[in-house]
Amino acid sequence: MTDKATLYKSLMEAASAARQYAYSPYSGYRVGAALLGKSGKVYTGCNVENAGYSPTNCAERTAVFKAVSEGEREFFAIAVTGGARDSVDSACTPCGVCRQVLAEFCDPATPVILGTPDHLRVLTLGELLPFAFTSGNL
Ligand code: THU
Repeated sequence: MTDKATLYKSLMEAASAARQYAYSPYSGYRVGAALLGKSGKVYTGCNVENAGYSPTNCAERTAVFKAVSEGEREFFAIAVTGGARDSVDSACTPCGVCRQVLAEFCDPATPVILGTPDHLRVLTLGELLPFAFTSGNL
């Protein structure tokens, strides 16, 4: 039985490893994400930038789209790491588009783990995106 702290740290380590693949020649800002599916499988992602700028895909969405495209639609948690400086206060938080994409597949209680493997900050998706617009609104 893995305790939560160990699980969150290992998910953050996977996000950190994924960050090395960031393709960010325009911003120089490198982000990694790791999404834990209810099957137990971890889907990683990095940001993938584009010369046209707007086609850029964030690390979180890369991870979600990889998972959903492989048949996984329910998730326990996501870890996200990145930032200009190595401090938890400047750590990357999911952008608004990524929060909305996460809200499509994750309930508001889903832990969103930020920071670095040595300094985690755990929030919930509901804290990051209160009053989310979801299928229930339609
Ligand atoms: N970025 C992410 O990968 N995730 C976020 O939630 C925030 C921003 C990326 C997009 C772009 O490649 C770079 O960080 C700077 O915005």
